Amino acid sequence: MLRLTIDNITVEVEEGTTILNAARKIGGKIVPPAMCYYSKLKGSGGKCRTCLVKIANTSEMDPRPIPKLVPSCSTLVQNGMVVENTISEQVLKERKAITEFLLINHPLDCPVCDQAGECDLQNLSYEHGLEETRYEEERREFAPIDIGEKIKLHMNRCILCYRCVYTAEQIINERVHGVLYRGDKAEISTFVENFVENDFSGNIIDVCPVGALTDRTFRFKSRVWFTNPMDAHRNCEKCSGKVALWMFGDDVYRVTGRKDKYNEVEEFICNECRFEKKKTSDWIIEGPRKINRTSVISQNHYEKLTKQSIINPTEGKTEQQE
Ligand code: SF4
Ligand code: FES
Repeated sequence: MLRLTIDNITVEVEEGTTILNAARKIGGKIVPPAMCYYSKLKGSGGKCRTCLVKIANTSEMDPRPIPKLVPSCSTLVQNGMVVENTISEQVLKERKAITEFLLINHPLDCPVCDQAGECDLQNLSYEHGLEETRYEEERREFAPIDIGEKIKLHMNRCILCYRCVYTAEQIINERVHGVLYRGDKAEISTFVENFVENDFSGNIIDVCPVGALTDRTFRFKSRVWFTNPMDAHRNCEKCSGKVALWMFGDDVYRVTGRKDKYNEVEEFICNECRFEKKKTSDWIIEGPRKINRTSVISQNHYEKLTKQSIINPTEGKTEQQE
């Protein structure tokens, strides 16, 4: 076992563990945010840089700091390593810069985006974003397109995390998709349209950290915080049949995979469960899901933010931003 310290908390992990997963073993606020890493997808991570941390001590053998911040999702733990995340001013400052960078091309259309309330970028901006954009150049613009009957692609919102690409690649046997071009021309390839015929294609909606890929059967039906998420299951021949139902009264508005506290699905589900089973009688309902992430989906958190804005309308600052 290797021993390391993250934000002054010591933990032991197996060799080959990344700093991010070591932090997840500790849990709580010291866990760096991750917009592209996804523990269920091999090769994910290393794209978004939101998980950067400072290495104050490389290892027991080499107690020197690493001059640049490193991505915690793809840096392996060494014995005696000392990592700083929330206690490092440099990390917090650079995370703000990365958030601003991710928002350069991202439209601020949360009021009309179906992902609002469960968007990782919205949560990241809430914690680390600036109040206003400083960007004055033209943003990249794409028209939203339907990729298949059930999925909408809003390329404007894409942060090129590659999660959908890895999902497609790892769920089907042949590669029929990808990111085309490079730099500010990069976009998810239209070959994704071929993938959407697959029985598990709907999972690209669940892994997308932003509102770039959304469920056309749920679009504009309700804000997610007005729905009641319930655990439910059914006998399914294609997948485990274990899902989250997003209910409004007795109606099933949306079906998704069950997500853990890091917003990652526990098990991928098939399109039949996701898109075809929208009646309560299709499911055995187990009970309400726990929503424990810090997000506007949590009503109390949202109320606190609103009250603060009302108290201080001219400053328009939230408690966290202060
Ligand atoms: S569409 Fe979503 S999941 Fe795919 S690369 Fe863009 S942000 Fe990531
Ligand atoms: S989560 Fe580590 S670089 Fe994106």
